Amino acid sequence: MTSQTLWEARKYEEVFGKTISPEERPDFHLSPRTGWMNDPNGFSWYNGKYHMFYQYHPYDSHWGPMHWGHAVSEDLLHWEYLPVALAPDEIYDRDGCFSGSAITLPDGRQLLMYTGVVREHLANGGHNDAQIQCLAVGDGVDYVKYEGNPVLTDKDIPKGGSRFDFRDPKMWRQEDGSYRCIIGNRPADGSGQILLYESQDGFEWHYKKILAANNDRFGKMWECPDFFPLDGKWVLLTSPQDMVPSGFEYHNGNGTLCLIGDYDRETENFTEEADQSVDYGIDFYAPQTLLTPDGRRVMIGWMQNWDTCNHRRVQEEAWFGQMSLPRELSIRNGRLYQQPVRELEEMRCNQVSYQGVTVSGTLRLEGIKGRRVDLEVVIRPEEGCDLYRKFAIRFAQNDLFHTSFSFRPGESVLKVDRKFSGSRRAIIHQRRSRVNHDNGRLKLRIILDRFSVEAFVNDGEQVLSAVLYTDQEADGISFIADGTVNMDVVKYDLA
Ligand code: FRU
Repeated sequence: MTSQTLWEARKYEEVFGKTISPEERPDFHLSPRTGWMNDPNGFSWYNGKYHMFYQYHPYDSHWGPMHWGHAVSEDLLHWEYLPVALAPDEIYDRDGCFSGSAITLPDGRQLLMYTGVVREHLANGGHNDAQIQCLAVGDGVDYVKYEGNPVLTDKDIPKGGSRFDFRDPKMWRQEDGSYRCIIGNRPADGSGQILLYESQDGFEWHYKKILAANNDRFGKMWECPDFFPLDGKWVLLTSPQDMVPSGFEYHNGNGTLCLIGDYDRETENFTEEADQSVDYGIDFYAPQTLLTPDGRRVMIGWMQNWDTCNHRRVQEEAWFGQMSLPRELSIRNGRLYQQPVRELEEMRCNQVSYQGVTVSGTLRLEGIKGRRVDLEVVIRPEEGCDLYRKFAIRFAQNDLFHTSFSFRPGESVLKVDRKFSGSRRAIIHQRRSRVNHDNGRLKLRIILDRFSVEAFVNDGEQVLSAVLYTDQEADGISFIADGTVNMDVVKYDLA
């Protein structure tokens, strides 16, 4: 039976979703049907389609009581909205259905696990949000909350762990048919840990062990974990809150962390070998992955950061928040690599290319412009010239505005800068990242989709993502060199 709360949310989004024209949204990045979106949830392949649920507040473009929005796609790029899947309509989740995941049960039904939130008011006027894990079962459109909810509560948290920071279950099915899930939690040291749970049927869950402990190394609480095998290794992704910066690798605030290591299936021990950021730009958080039917591990993150949510078009906008491009993951040289899903190549049209162009000063090239483009650029020092000092690409450009990537080979630093994108807020607009280059040779693939940019560096060795709200008329692209650069550039429109 559909609750009143769910019914109202479904009605509301149906009516107000229609008032947002397709041109006012990103084209191939998923945005909320109406209102606010944060984390990807329940990212899965089910009944012949990719399903993406998302943290959703349909009634406002700001965060509020969390619902699960829902969309499906055949290629991860063209999304079709389905009705809200979950609303906060039970005693145990009345203050929010927080992040979680999805799997297919052997009988063909889809199982969702999410965090139910119940606010506890304190005598001093403050509050704490108690968090428990809940299930819902459905057919890909309608979901019924499990009568045995909640399935994991404070009783299932190891000693010292907080019941107010116990969220974001990510489930998977093992080869032997049993199930596992991992959940973010705050232990007594105040930082983060990832807890492992086990189930034989997907409904009755038991605590197993601590899969990974932060020990105050990377921020505090670890949110939205994901764990999977990749190219002979195991990868643990999580999004730490309250990071302090470390060189150019980790920035302040909410970050993303990738731990690469080994996992012993017998003892269920995870041994860490390497750590890195997942994204080196400004806007990326809480990614989730799935395995495609043809065996690719694909990741989508929330292309936003909690610390920059005041960077908006206008205060009363109809939608806020969008997902990143789906990215194919691999491990090369002990690092996580990300490439746009190959399906994006199907959208390429109107190719314009230039080989071996000399850039010294500012250069514009005929046919190279647009706000929905796939731009591949390779730069190197011009033969016979000294190493250039700086190279920059400006885009979303007109007389007033631009956003840029600039690269200084002497420092090996690539910077994204949206200070001049039209933003009227004094928040973070720049970020620097150290990148590898071969004596000034660097490769960039830049994807623009109306309100965002994602740069894939050196075939996916690093990615920098940022949201930008510059007017769509600002569609210029230009190249600038301090010194002399030799450049190949290929541009495609994406349609
Ligand atoms: C991460 C997060 C999750 C939580 C959700 C609430 O962005 O804080 O930990 O489940 O957002 O919307």
